[in-house]
Amino acid sequence: MAQLWGGRFTKETEKAVYDFNASISFDKRLFHEDVNGSLAHVTMLAKQGILTVEEKDSIVAGLESILKDVDDGKLLIDHRYEDVHSFVEANLIDRIGDAGKKLHTGRSRNDQVALDMRLYARNQVCVTDQLLRELLEVILHTMEENRDTYMPGFTHLQKAQPVTLAHHYGAYFEMFKRDRQRMQDIYERMNYCPLGAGALAGTTYPLDRDCVASLLGFAGPTLNSMDSVSDRDYLLEFLAAMATIMMHLSRFSEEIIIWNSNEYQFVEIDDAYSTGSSIMPQKKNPDIAELVRGKTGRVYGALMSLLTTMKGIPLAYNKDMQEDKEMAFDAMDTCASCLKLFTGMLSTMKFRKDRMAVSAMKGFTNATDLADYLVAKEVPFRDAHGIVGRIVLHCIDQGISIEEMPLKDLRTFCDRFDKDVYQAISLETCVEKRNTVGGPGLIAMENEIKACRAYLNDRPAMKAPELTR
Ligand code: ARG
Repeated sequence: MAQLWGGRFTKETEKAVYDFNASISFDKRLFHEDVNGSLAHVTMLAKQGILTVEEKDSIVAGLESILKDVDDGKLLIDHRYEDVHSFVEANLIDRIGDAGKKLHTGRSRNDQVALDMRLYARNQVCVTDQLLRELLEVILHTMEENRDTYMPGFTHLQKAQPVTLAHHYGAYFEMFKRDRQRMQDIYERMNYCPLGAGALAGTTYPLDRDCVASLLGFAGPTLNSMDSVSDRDYLLEFLAAMATIMMHLSRFSEEIIIWNSNEYQFVEIDDAYSTGSSIMPQKKNPDIAELVRGKTGRVYGALMSLLTTMKGIPLAYNKDMQEDKEMAFDAMDTCASCLKLFTGMLSTMKFRKDRMAVSAMKGFTNATDLADYLVAKEVPFRDAHGIVGRIVLHCIDQGISIEEMPLKDLRTFCDRFDKDVYQAISLETCVEKRNTVGGPGLIAMENEIKACRAYLNDRPAMKAPELTR
């Protein structure tokens, strides 16, 4: 049991207490961030004359050798240490002796862990942005290829009006685009360095906080030391944004599961992204989509957990805050793997365009257009709505679609019908005429696709500043 304190204690910590308190099993993930933070800290300490250049050089060499040995698998971050911070410091002192004891000058684990977590989350915000961008590429590619792939649009999961696959996918493009905008917002708001806040009240050493902030690629130092050590808002914002990404992925998954069902058969998920049944040989299941839908709950759980942890914490640092890590890490891992797998599944999925078009033609998706046809012939819309409703009832009774009705039968419902009606209610016309901004018509869709392409070109993925790895 190696810990960083003990002077004022007369007894050893109870083993169960030590284990309960320890965080090394999960904060070892912050190893690189911890070393990077320490490298910046000692560089600044020497610049300010708080450490000598020799002491700084010795600490830097020691930290770099620890970094290398851990990365090469020669040094294990093991459970003899309370947390990752103790691990690094104890190993440094082992390697370089007394100079190592000066690393923690003007620093507390409170501002240290606040920094580590922020660096880790900042990097993950960029990873998430990159994964979202890759998903958007696949979505846009499908849009470009399917400008005239007709399918039914639904409300209440009832066929409503015909749309195109490009238009349907365009909705998801907008959702994931907003998710990227959230990553950008979070990055900008979180990108301030808490190191130098000390335990809660700053320090008496003449630290240069701007220097540390700039060495670590932050826009500047945080402004209040008590807030610096007790703020986890950025993590909550990130969790909320990941929960929203998962909600989007889950809705999309739900649609794919429906489209992939035996009844719909709009899509076929690639063999490489499907699974079979141990008993039913005919089965090919959409497990990836189902798992993405299922894992959404974990990410919501992480958000709820941290919100609840934070709500009763008086200023400043309290040990409750150690609970910010495990579920947040799990949420980051979950969201990243779902984005990756979902993108892979989407890019290999095949569309059954024939079945989609037939489905769009059935179910009276052109009923609104038939009413609009009568409006163009000067029938008031409310009357037209009633006439078409009666026609639909008649068709259901006969087991036919509207376009299968002979003109003379249509005329028994309203004498304004003419032979141009068939053209007016064809699938193509129904979609084509919807060219208001944001609609599925060819011209509107062309503009939408152009705007999406321009957006992707203008917005390369965010990259976190390069730090020592
Ligand atoms: N493991 C702790 C955490 O994650 C590090 C900070 C410890 N600070 C303290 N005052 N005990 O929050």
